[in-house]
Amino acid sequence: MSVYAVIMAGGKGERLWPASTRARPKPFLPLGREGKSLIQATYDRVLPLTGRERLYVVTESALALQVKAALGLADARLLVEPQGRNTAPAIGLAALAVSLADPEGIMIALPADHLIEDEVTFRKALQAAVEAAQEGHLVTLGIEPSCPATGYGYIQRGELLGSSHGHDIFKVKRFTEKPDEDTAQRFLSEGGYYWNSGIFVWRAARILEEINRFLPKLAQALKKLAGLWGTPGWEAALRGSWQEVEATSIDYGVMERAEDVVVVPASFGWHDLGDWQAVWEVFPRDENGVAVRGEHLGMDTARALIWARPGKTVATLGVSNVAIVDTQDALLVAALARSQQVRELARQAQPAPPEWDELFKLDTSGMLEVVAGFPDQCRKGLELGEEVDLPQGLSGFSRVLCVGMGGSGITGDLLGRFLSIPVIPCRGYRVPSYIGEETLLIGVSYSGNTEETLSAFQEGLSRTRRALAISSGGKLRELCASRKIPWIGIPGGYQPRAALGYLLFTLLSVLRRLGAAHLDLKEALATLAEQAKALGPASPGNQAQTIARALAGGVPLIYGTYGNTGPVAFRWKTQINENAKQPAFWAELPELCHNEIVGWELAERVLPGGRVVFLRTGHDHPRVQARIEILKEVLLRRGLSYLEVEGEGKSEAAQLFSLLYLGDWVSVYLALLNGVDPTPVRPIQELKERLARL
Ligand code: F6R
Repeated sequence: MSVYAVIMAGGKGERLWPASTRARPKPFLPLGREGKSLIQATYDRVLPLTGRERLYVVTESALALQVKAALGLADARLLVEPQGRNTAPAIGLAALAVSLADPEGIMIALPADHLIEDEVTFRKALQAAVEAAQEGHLVTLGIEPSCPATGYGYIQRGELLGSSHGHDIFKVKRFTEKPDEDTAQRFLSEGGYYWNSGIFVWRAARILEEINRFLPKLAQALKKLAGLWGTPGWEAALRGSWQEVEATSIDYGVMERAEDVVVVPASFGWHDLGDWQAVWEVFPRDENGVAVRGEHLGMDTARALIWARPGKTVATLGVSNVAIVDTQDALLVAALARSQQVRELARQAQPAPPEWDELFKLDTSGMLEVVAGFPDQCRKGLELGEEVDLPQGLSGFSRVLCVGMGGSGITGDLLGRFLSIPVIPCRGYRVPSYIGEETLLIGVSYSGNTEETLSAFQEGLSRTRRALAISSGGKLRELCASRKIPWIGIPGGYQPRAALGYLLFTLLSVLRRLGAAHLDLKEALATLAEQAKALGPASPGNQAQTIARALAGGVPLIYGTYGNTGPVAFRWKTQINENAKQPAFWAELPELCHNEIVGWELAERVLPGGRVVFLRTGHDHPRVQARIEILKEVLLRRGLSYLEVEGEGKSEAAQLFSLLYLGDWVSVYLALLNGVDPTPVRPIQELKERLARL
């Protein structure tokens, strides 16, 4: 009979606003010892009892990536609810996972956001609880109350059943919801009452039986899900049923109604850290009662909690009994004694996030539809490339110079990833001086009117007769006609960056015919078609939307790898710039290990919203993969969040293009979250117009 632990990482922590926000709620705040986040501290605290293999975290989809990154958790250990439905469904899901792994498994369920001072006693209390659970009891840990708190539920003990690991085990007589002050006072003077810690231990099979008895809708959903565990149908079934299950707490839904519930009373310095006053109480304070995180300059300041943001000093003069919390989003100044009411402010400051259906209305020019059509573009591009007339004299080149800017220019970088000869992307007015007859010159400009491209292309023509161009028309077409150079026409009416399928796949097809590319794109095309369905607006809560939510409000730092995902990282950056209208940066491994990582040292101060995204495929050098693992640890230490996204499929092309396509979707969803229409790129147009007038 093995012991499993399930950490419940949910909740809003509204009373700790503005440090705790919807996107980064209380479990992620550095309130644990040595500046650890509460969730990390919780994880480390139970690890000795279970080991990594039997430690699960259950969370809602909006927080899943963060939980995974914060703990370096394997996918199989992360249980993701489509949306949080209070503790009973979360526990039901976790009990299902545990019982499938081990029908006899004992399960410890505990919240991710508690602070515990005496970890040794905590684990002993849990061991006592595990023994009681082995005998079939439903066990809860009760905290010896130190004051008549009204913020917690109370458990009244009944008959003594025995003891274990230095802890008594009592039958539970009664649960009481949060009492008023007089009742709490009475409980304390009568004795035999404990605070309800929200930490439970039971056999997974036993709690599932109780759910069967008391929560029929949840039970039904879990039965349906049991047969789908580990199959592709799991996610859809979970999404389909989760709206229907009883959104209730396990205390109310089961524990208060079940037979044979026992309590293990314990005293291990338990803190729920429910509000800023509670944080002030546990933080170290100076002789005036001032507790500080960050830089504080105080004069005549007493009984205060100061929470400053990195790089900014909070200065106070002649104030007392106050909580001052400064974050990137908001500055809170509150009377310490009224900390409970911060929740009301938090609700006003953070209205519920808009529904996707509302946000789709911002896409007035139809970028979502265009992105959905990308796989189709790629397929048509390949066909088009087959039909192009290619004059004899073109072949025989030993390198390619790809002249183009912006959404067209990236074609050169991506071609370089797949050609068997060097490809030099050229983004400027002039071509490199070493270019000669051995070079195939390709002009790429969707509009056909980009002046840098036209200038470099013309100069290139004076160096080599091997040349071709691709555009939807414009001056490039005229130039090709007058110089009798093969010109490939692709459909007009798109934004250049949204015509990448045509630009790139047509050229890939042409270059395959010219003997410079040897790749099978079948799997890539099938993967893209699958993604179009999975990532589109008709799949709510999809991966691209989740990533976009995780990036929203921050500055994405997209990391690819040299010779592999580098160009895709660059595409993510440029798509985020042009679609989402916000800054984003990219870099490549291993190079970034020699410079950028030093820049992380002050990132919390100068780029507090930095969000790293690692693009991963199975085709990176093993040492590069090892570097990523180390970087992830470094990032966590620096308090920077990161995401990892994996390419789909097996072939290099499938993995690369699926990552690229995912980025395109992310950038469009991010635009909508930013409240902007993804399509227009006015600053680019304005600049081109001004230059044209010069
Ligand atoms: C706009 C876009 C731009 C253009 C760039 C060059 O959607 O992607 O980056 O690609 O201004 O223009 P073209 O592609 O027409 O040569």
